[in-house]
Amino acid sequence: MDSRTLGKNGPKVSRIGMGVWQASDLWKGDDEQIVRAITRGHELGVNLVDTAEAYGNGHSEQVVGRALRDIGREEFVVATKVHGANLRYDELQRAAAASMNRLGVTEIDLYQVHWPDPWEQVPLKETMKALEKLYTEGKIRAIGVSNFAVRDLEEARSHLSRTDIVSNQVRYNFLQREIEEEVLPYCRKNNITILAYSPLAQGALTGKYNRGHVPKGDIRDENRLFAPKNIEQIEKVNAVLGSIARRHGCSASQVGLSWLLANQMVVPIPGAKNEAQAEENAGSTKHLLTNAELTELDTAYELVDIDYLPTVPDVPIELVT
Ligand SMILES: NC(=O)c1ccc[n+]([C@@H]2O[C@H](COP(=O)([O-])OP(=O)(O)OC[C@H]3O[C@@H](n4cnc5c(N)ncnc54)[C@H](OP(=O)(O)O)[C@@H]3O)[C@@H](O)[C@H]2O)c1
Repeated sequence: MDSRTLGKNGPKVSRIGMGVWQASDLWKGDDEQIVRAITRGHELGVNLVDTAEAYGNGHSEQVVGRALRDIGREEFVVATKVHGANLRYDELQRAAAASMNRLGVTEIDLYQVHWPDPWEQVPLKETMKALEKLYTEGKIRAIGVSNFAVRDLEEARSHLSRTDIVSNQVRYNFLQREIEEEVLPYCRKNNITILAYSPLAQGALTGKYNRGHVPKGDIRDENRLFAPKNIEQIEKVNAVLGSIARRHGCSASQVGLSWLLANQMVVPIPGAKNEAQAEENAGSTKHLLTNAELTELDTAYELVDIDYLPTVPDVPIELVT
């Protein structure tokens, strides 16, 4: 599989990664199946795995740790995140140590600030200095952020003297493009890789959900994309993705991911619950879209009217300890 260097000098990662939030109570993924999904992804060249201390209150990191033990730690670029409750200097050192312990690693490849401080109490300078200490000590290979607006990125970067931020993990998919206005141009200009989360719009872009069948009983109960008015609009988008997919002999999901892959600075990190999903997602890298197809997709996008909320946290603000 093709690869990308994160930022200017970060780790080299596969063209597409895999998110492991699915190994948490909010998604109700099955641990065994998820380890198999990571294994299948690895067989197909996916080396980037994304988790967070907050996913299942550490459980997702433990599941990633199992896969690393089974397959070999050196085979992966491990990305995890520090929660908003642990952004003070000493808290962050302890949080990193606890994450390493759960993952069974002595170094985190990409350590990301999950969200800017939700309470706005910890100066960003303190957090960035704490991250730089870990970087200098060789405990983390690269510093990343997540859900950072341009003003946050600028401030965070101004507090780093030995390295730069290599990535900003943000929501980005064919339907939800709010980063295109400011964040994407800023990251392009400053060589900060975009790790695109929810690249399949949490399943809305797979074509398997419709007005008569929406996911129930997990985090998506609160996702407005699955509200009747929106899913009706998304069905129209999926019809276009589906028709392009038929021409390529691939799936609608793969076309949705290929749309993201057309942007060279974007690395999507779809979550997979099983081997089949991991295989399909990895396979999207083989289906490059033509300019005519990208235009066809843009036209389809212009015609739909989707009403959704701005990004909301993927984890409860209060971290259960
Ligand atoms: N930094 C942040 O704030 C943040 C926020 C959200 C996510 N993330 C990260 O990004 C990753 C991905 O985002 P996400 O989980 O929100 O959404 P996503 O990747 O857009 O959607 C994942 C869901 O789509 C379905 N799916 C995946 N591949 C499929 C396929 N090939 N065919 C059919 N269905 C498929 C699965 O659910 P079903 O089979 O149940 O439909 C899966 O749980 C997460 O695991 C996490 O690591 C980060």
